[in-house]
Amino acid sequence: MNDIFARLDKWPRTLLVQEPTPLLRAPNLAAILGRAPVDIFVKMDAESGFGLGGNKARKLEFELSPPRLEGVTCVVTCGSNQSNHARLTAAAAARLGLRCVLVVNGQSSPPHTGNAYLHRLFGAEIRTVQTKDQRQPTMEEVAAEVETEGGKAIVIPLGASTPLGSLGYVRAAAEISGQWGDHPHDGVTWIFVSASSCGTYAGLALGFALLDNPNVKLVGVSPDVDEREILEETARLTRGAADLLGVEVSPRPDLLIPTNAYVGSGYGFPTPESEEAVTLLARNEGILLDPVYTAKTAAAMLDWCSCDR
Ligand SMILES: Cc1ncc(COP(=O)(O)O)c(C=O)c1O
Repeated sequence: MNDIFARLDKWPRTLLVQEPTPLLRAPNLAAILGRAPVDIFVKMDAESGFGLGGNKARKLEFELSPPRLEGVTCVVTCGSNQSNHARLTAAAAARLGLRCVLVVNGQSSPPHTGNAYLHRLFGAEIRTVQTKDQRQPTMEEVAAEVETEGGKAIVIPLGASTPLGSLGYVRAAAEISGQWGDHPHDGVTWIFVSASSCGTYAGLALGFALLDNPNVKLVGVSPDVDEREILEETARLTRGAADLLGVEVSPRPDLLIPTNAYVGSGYGFPTPESEEAVTLLARNEGILLDPVYTAKTAAAMLDWCSCDR
């Protein structure tokens, strides 16, 4: 474990997350499942103490490290008009005193609610595009405009899911592993995590591969993309992150279990199961889930518990 932190510490960060985030036991939920003994924990990365929480802050710590920000005047990124990633990037830019431009697809007219409101509250400028495909070229156009005006832009790819950003979740794997040392058990530990742009999944995959614990399985629950895409993108990011750390480890084949069985009618559309998961966690544990990502991940976890895998 110390070796992982030593390798990670060679990569500078801008500190945004109050570590460790809580690992909460959910005994009421476990009791409702009526299948003893099952122990359920929820890793509360929503409680990072920064910008209303979420998984992007750990990746942005590396993407927005001090050396990468030298001379930078403007942070550019993209997402949907309700993007959590865009919210946290705007919050980080605000803390760093930098201009922020968000290229977002989706509805542009007011009222701006939820994250669309928070993007603006954090002071970001919004460029709206019609389709997802227009986001990347528009980010490049914005960066060129910034340079023409004499500034310097840093473009953060979708979800900050780069090999560098994934290091945030290599750190998180070591953090989680340290926390569950307080709750030893003999069987398999199933970790359910949302996998979309896949930086989170890849970072955890590399982290748990480095920790070399054969009793961990990582179920990557898709809110949109298919299983093949998840595996390909996760492999690409994991290889890149391993190169950055100077290690040759790759995740063992049975560590990663991607699934797109819980997408329902598509990205952002709730399913009866995701709504039930939100309600169960709220009413029994007082825990709030993100409806787009974590709700579907929790629905997968509840389904797997009931299937006796
Ligand atoms: C709350 C939340 N969980 C999970 C994800 C998916 O993470 P990743 O894009 O690293 O796969 C996102 C992506 O925006 C998110 O906002």
